[in-house]
Amino acid sequence: MTKTEKYETLVDELGALLAETDDLTANLANASALIASRFHAFSWVGFYLRKKEELILGPFQGLPACVSIPLGRGVCGTSASRKETLIVPDVHLFPGHIACDATSRSEIVVPLIHDGFVVGVLDVDSHDIARFDAVDQIYLEKIAAILVKKAF
Ligand code: SME
Repeated sequence: MTKTEKYETLVDELGALLAETDDLTANLANASALIASRFHAFSWVGFYLRKKEELILGPFQGLPACVSIPLGRGVCGTSASRKETLIVPDVHLFPGHIACDATSRSEIVVPLIHDGFVVGVLDVDSHDIARFDAVDQIYLEKIAAILVKKAF
């Protein structure tokens, strides 16, 4: 199965999972578990949710992570303040990268935007260099949009 086919299947499955409840925690928890279970090269998949000027750790799959990230800091905070997806092929080369897991090497962060306001981010890490590309961006942005519409 190609990566595109895997994501297409995942998006369908996510739709079915989200149909069960409007609860934010339940839906973000199942979304992170679904993505992590389909892509074993992803070492961490989860959400940070905005509380005032900080992003606070939300539902995730992976090792315990940093609890709070100020807007504008790290990859997550930069993505949130710029309101754009960031793909970081080598986290060692990203100034200000926050290393929750020292073995993480690449990362993609997609902002969750509701009515023009950033309500959180979807963050995915990998132990591999340059794991993420435009296909990941397209589908993770699609997943983020589905979640925002359903859960916020
Ligand atoms: N690396 C992120 C921090 C979150 S962890 O990757 C789970 C960052 O620089 O914002």
